[in-house]
Amino acid sequence: MSEQCPKAPINTDIPVLGPAKIPSPLPYCRFDTDAKRVRVELDASEFESGTGACFADFEVAGPRERIYFDSSKVKAAIVTCGGLCPGLNDVIRAIVMEAHHNYHVAGVLGIRFGLQGFVDSYGHPPVELTPESVADIHQFGGTMLGSSRGPQRPEDIADALERANVGMLFVIGGDGTMKAARRIQEEISKRGAKISIIGVPKTIDNDINLVTQSFGFDTAVEKATEAIRSAHTEAIGALNGVGLVKVMGRESGFIAAQATLALKEVNYVLVPEYPFALTGEHGLLPSLEQRLRERKHAVIVVAEGAGQNLLPDTGARDASGNPVLGDICQFLSGEIEAYFKARDMPHTLKFIDPSYIIRSVPANANDRVYCGFLGQHAVHAAMAGKTGMVVSKLYGRYVHLPLDLVTLRRKKLNIASDYWRAVLESTGQHAVTPFNED
Ligand code: F6P
Repeated sequence: MSEQCPKAPINTDIPVLGPAKIPSPLPYCRFDTDAKRVRVELDASEFESGTGACFADFEVAGPRERIYFDSSKVKAAIVTCGGLCPGLNDVIRAIVMEAHHNYHVAGVLGIRFGLQGFVDSYGHPPVELTPESVADIHQFGGTMLGSSRGPQRPEDIADALERANVGMLFVIGGDGTMKAARRIQEEISKRGAKISIIGVPKTIDNDINLVTQSFGFDTAVEKATEAIRSAHTEAIGALNGVGLVKVMGRESGFIAAQATLALKEVNYVLVPEYPFALTGEHGLLPSLEQRLRERKHAVIVVAEGAGQNLLPDTGARDASGNPVLGDICQFLSGEIEAYFKARDMPHTLKFIDPSYIIRSVPANANDRVYCGFLGQHAVHAAMAGKTGMVVSKLYGRYVHLPLDLVTLRRKKLNIASDYWRAVLESTGQHAVTPFNED
């Protein structure tokens, strides 16, 4: 480990419910062992403040030769939480198919509308998930189970799991959900109950720590490019046409950046990690004016969390505890209109907001494959008696991560990276440099 690494070694151990003694029923299989590790070089900032490279050894995902649960007796439950994301149904389907067809579990319950489904007073009874009931769900976006935001009492959730005799809970959700999963696991272990809690990290924003690319992101980028292409078509169809496209990305601009790299027509990409000024030498508006005078059209892609330095703090929070953002595109539209009107410069502004279209479509082929692996690995881990962990694809390898590590921080674009430099080279927005808030 290098000197800049956190003082304490990074703990990558995965808790277990007990020794795995039962031979796996999987018929084929090359089994993996807990001793098999993937060494990954990470930036120390992925753990705590600091810089420099760190190495951490993560347990490899995959089926184990000996499992903890008696597969014919154990029951599983699946819950989906937070905002939608392409691939949710694929993960549900993969878990159900793996659990039924390969481990022959006693049953799989679908928990309705997120964590609310555990609490009787909400009135969302669980549904039985079978290979038949999930057979076609991957054709559709969204989640067949429904979702909701916001925490519920871990005690109530543990009670519900015990009452339903569930041995494995699969929690599909984002940062807040993974924190909730951690609290549920704590409650379960306090009770000495033998219930495995396995997370499958989900976020359209791609901002989960130690998940190289979250499922659904590839689909989201593909869908975003359609909107950007339309914005470009509109922009070139009018004198001084400006296409303004908003994509999701509350605290990180991964969708905006990746879609920009995919489509060379983007002239400005605005992301939360790159605060900018509107006016002045390095301001967006003078640069846009110059661009229009030279080229007569422009496309601006904006992640929803960009430019918050220019807006008043709403002070509000959503049910998940995330800050409610100011509407940057409404603000920019007004500023652009006023700026060019003041200069008597004819222009046309077309604003396109494909946010919810992007995240509600079915997964594309790459994401389907990815979701299939995530679902299968989640079941292998649970059957082996692992708990308090998530399944992640980290630098190309499927691994088990302790829940604590994925919730340490939110992943952000590194604007000092070669990746971001490539984004800026693609847009050519060199005149708009980060606004230094200090
Ligand atoms: O799940 C993340 C996310 O897609 C953010 O990008 C976005 O700000 C938020 O969810 C919006 O979700 P909703 O409108 O469902 O609360």
